[in-house]
Amino acid sequence: MSTKISFRDVHKSFPVKGGMFTALQGVSLDIADEEFVTVVGPSGCGKSTLLGMAAGLVEPTAGDVLVDGSPVTGPGPERGVIFQQYALFPWLTVRRNVEFGLKLTSLSAAECRHRAERAIDLVGLADFADALPKTLSGGMKQRCAIARAYAVDPQVLLMDEPFGALDALTRVQLQEQLLRTWSQERRTVMFITHDVDEAVFLARRVVVMAARPGRIHTIVDVGLPYPRTEEIRLSPEFGRIRNDVWHAVYHQDALTA
Ligand SMILES: Nc1ncnc2c1ncn2[C@@H]1O[C@H](COP(=O)(O)OP(=O)(O)O)[C@@H](O)[C@H]1O
Ligand SMILES: [Mg+2]
Repeated sequence: MSTKISFRDVHKSFPVKGGMFTALQGVSLDIADEEFVTVVGPSGCGKSTLLGMAAGLVEPTAGDVLVDGSPVTGPGPERGVIFQQYALFPWLTVRRNVEFGLKLTSLSAAECRHRAERAIDLVGLADFADALPKTLSGGMKQRCAIARAYAVDPQVLLMDEPFGALDALTRVQLQEQLLRTWSQERRTVMFITHDVDEAVFLARRVVVMAARPGRIHTIVDVGLPYPRTEEIRLSPEFGRIRNDVWHAVYHQDALTA
């Protein structure tokens, strides 16, 4: 399978009082077309910085970030970004929020409506298309944000702890929904989380990062088949992989010592 996103020996430093702070040091990672990759690691290890580079929101200090073989020079419609905060317009209905991103494209009004409708269906919000965000639960708001990203039909989804603010049950439901959607319309997904279970459940590969300086610690292959079912989530094999990832995240000093 061809490479969709490529980080090549990426470094990122930020100026701080009295010098430079190294946020990322020598990160190299290839994400294949249509692959689902999750990234976990301790707070401050550079996960958001890395994702921001693929999104074109953060410029590397050194190294290259390529999408489809071309250097990323800024945000683009082929890369949809979803953050933890829902960032919906409170005065717009679900439908209008989803259509909003499409207004920046050259699509006809009818096509925009059609695309929005489809995306709203995909995330299971059809019955709430005319609702205002304030009447929705946190999970529904986040589904609306996902629908907005999907409507633009990006080839790449960059998700930065999108379910981080949700309760455990809603989280599991949205994970399953995201995988169902992904199985219907394959995209390349880079998904950041601090939840080890979530990282393993979703991904083909889990990238475990380490901090100070931010770097890749280990990459764990998740050999579990898709579709990922509840049965898989409760299986001994899932538990074993989760333990491996957990260990890599929380006992980094022991492993690197
Ligand atoms: N714009 C910035 N200026 C200075 N330091 C930054 C900036 N953005 C991020 N950092 C620092 O870089 C490190 C990595 O940040 P971040 O990528 O947000 O980590 P994570 O998402 O893994 O928690 C942190 O120590 C953070 O304080
Ligand atoms: Mg972050």
